[in-house]
Formats: sequence, C-alpha cells, structure tokens
Amino acid sequence: MISVILGLQFGDEGKGKITDFISKDYDDVVRFNGGSNAGHTVVINGEKFKFHLVPSGAMQSNRVILGNGMVIDPEELVDEIDLLKKSKKNIDIKISAGAHIVTKMHKCLDKKEEEIRSKLNIGTTSQGIGPTYEDKYARTGIRLIDLSNPEIIRDKIETIYNMKRQLLKGSIYENPEERGKMVESLCSFGTSIMKYMDYTENVIYNDYRSGKNILFEGAQGGMLDIDFGIYPFVTSSNTLAGALSTGSGFSFRKVDRVIGVFKAYTSKVGSGPFPSEILNDSTLRDLGGEYGTTTGRPRRIGWLDLPLLKYTIMMNDVDSLAITKVDILGKMKTIKVATKYTIDGREIDYFPRRLEEFDKLHVDYVEFPGWGDITNGDDIISKGYQELPENMKKFLEFIEEETGKTIDIISLGEDRRMTITKQIFN
Ligand code: IMP
Repeated sequence: MISVILGLQFGDEGKGKITDFISKDYDDVVRFNGGSNAGHTVVINGEKFKFHLVPSGAMQSNRVILGNGMVIDPEELVDEIDLLKKSKKNIDIKISAGAHIVTKMHKCLDKKEEEIRSKLNIGTTSQGIGPTYEDKYARTGIRLIDLSNPEIIRDKIETIYNMKRQLLKGSIYENPEERGKMVESLCSFGTSIMKYMDYTENVIYNDYRSGKNILFEGAQGGMLDIDFGIYPFVTSSNTLAGALSTGSGFSFRKVDRVIGVFKAYTSKVGSGPFPSEILNDSTLRDLGGEYGTTTGRPRRIGWLDLPLLKYTIMMNDVDSLAITKVDILGKMKTIKVATKYTIDGREIDYFPRRLEEFDKLHVDYVEFPGWGDITNGDDIISKGYQELPENMKKFLEFIEEETGKTIDIISLGEDRRMTITKQIFN
C-alpha cells in the first residue's frame, strides 16, 4: 500500500497525530516538502513528542526518509535525531543527498525580507524557509551532499552573500569571519549527519519493489501551497499531493490512497485572507489550545469552511478524510459551518486568486448545536462510531454529504488512543 497524507486547510490540522496513528501499517514514512516551519505533535500515553523535520511516523515505522524536496536546518536535525534515538534506538533514517540546507544566514534573510514586505508581510515562521527555496531555484543553494566539501560550502556561502549583500547590510554576515564560522559549523554538522545521507529516490523505489508499505507525509496544508494557496500568503513549496513526486522522486502513478486531514474548525497563523475567520471571540482558540508549535504565536481561528475544503479535496484528489479536534468543537453551544461563497449576490464556482475578491466575499453559514463535553471517551473508543453523540454524527454526516467523501478517521483527543476509525482503516 502506497499512501499520502496531507493537510487540507492552512496547516496545523493535526496531521502529526493522524500520521502517527496510521503509520503502524507502513514500513517507511517519507517527507517531501518544507522544513522546520512545520510542527507536528504526537502524544503517546500522555508523553508528548514534537517533530519539525523528522516525519511524524517515526514512532511506529521502521524507516523514515527526508526527501530532496525538503529544506533542512542541520543544527535542528541533529537535535531532533538525538531526541528520537532516545525513544527509538533502531529507527533507520535516510536523508536525500539533494535536500537543501538552511543556514543561519537564511534565517536572517527571512526576517529582513519580511521587514521589506512591510504591509504585505506574510508572517513567516522565521525559519529561513523562503530564502532557502529562493537559493534552490536560483541554483545557488547548498545541498546536503555539499556538506562534505568545505570548498563548495565556502563558494556557495560567498555567492549567496554576494547576491543578497543589499539585504544583509547591517547584519553580522557582512563580516567575512562570521561567514567563515558558518562554513565551519556547517562542516561540523555535516560530519554528524553524513552517515544518514543516501540517494533516497533509489531507497524508496527499492522498498516499493520489495513490497513495502510506504506513507508519504505532507507538511503544511493545501491552502499554503505556493501555486494554489492564497498567494502571497503561502509557504515557499508545493504542499499538494503532486509534490510527493518532485519532492521524493517517487512516481505519483503508484499512489493507492490519498488521505486528507482537516480540523473540525479552521486555524491559520500568519497574515492574509481568512474567509470564515471568527473575529473578536477567542473561545475556540482557548478551548483548542491553538498556539503555534513552531512559533508559539496565537493562531487565528474560524469555522469549518466547506468551499475551501472542497477545493483542497479536489486539488489533492482525496480518497479518504480524517477529522481532528471534533471533541473541542462540540464544546461550543452553537457551531457554524461555511457552505457557500458569493460575490455581489452570485455564488462563485472557483477559489478566488485576486486578493480584492476576498474583501467582497460574502460567506453563507449553516448552524449546528454543540454536543458538549465527551465524558465517555473510553466507551466510544471501545464501541466505535455508533457511540458518538447524535449531534456530532449529524455534523460529520453533513460534511460527508457535502464533500462526497467518507470521514474514515475521527480524532477525539490528542493522545494516539483517542481515535476511532471507520471502513478501510478498521
Ligand atoms: P514560511 O513557511 O515560514 O515561509 O511561512 C509562510 C506562511 O506559512 C506563514 O503564514 C506561516 O505561518 C505559514 N506556515 C508555514 N508552515 C506552517 C505550518 O506548519 N503550520 C501552519 N502554518 C505554517
């Protein structure tokens, strides 16, 4: 079985939890995009594990692979691998020779670029993601394979510095000694992670040929996709299912199942249009503990948005849905779901690309009564779907009807065991 799991909103849908839950059925888990802008939390018997770079399937699968589509901060990776190895000594880790490297200079550039964007600032995670992808596409980027050669690193650091000298004015990187220190530090991190480097396109293909089950794990969410998200308030990589091929080298033609994860409401960090946003009421944010895993920033909160969800379901060609935080949403007395976007009284049949259109957007909602606190969680887990509160089932069935997809995984709490499954995952 070859599957891909993706977020269908603005990131933070709870993919980490669902990926961990299903990864027991997979031998390999492969990440193919993004870097430490992602924050995936996995909770096992009350113990929390936070991943930024390592795939969240690491706790249950045998092998994790960081694909060429990723941008990797080596310092962060070394720490994460050390932590992971404490709980899972025998995990096999492979990192693509072609993955790009994030340096401290890229993080500095991320902040400078945001300052210059001023009104149009994106609210990035400041992890150097954008500038590293810029260098990749400018063909000046540093790849993992380069870390074994100090001369190459030095040349590339100087080229990047010379290209971005204007932006780096006033920073410590104007000092050649600081750039030299960066080269040394990259070499030293390189020494620690080189043993994981591989031609991962071959590793994945060989595992596929020998009949292994492989799960591809997307980072961020569909609405942060550089091409199909709400540009420019997006991340710098493709976050939709198609990106697994370019980000890992594995053919999309061999993927059996696309799993889309969404939260029972919507959240967003960073700037930009948010059609179903709830303004001036932080109840849902507080109930859901909605603060960024990577940045600690309070997330913007809104109702579930079906036009947006249908769009990312279409763009990912989703087979099966997983919903998270339904337990949280139920605590609201009245729940709203966005059903339709209209502009000047006419329903629109595309997802807007012009920012001005979002100002004119009118959003229609339907309302559902809440289902209160779930006090019989263990009962539900043991008996399954039929034991869910009636109001919750009505809400779930409405989403299935509207999207035409089944919700096969329902998450009722952050712990791995607080999960019920339907149909194909039974
Ligand atoms: P960047 O990826 O750090 O450049 O940030 C670009 C936009 O994507 C900002 O709005 C970030 O808040 C958002 N973003 C990036 N990664 C994540 C994520 O994993 N979860 C939620 N938002 C994210």
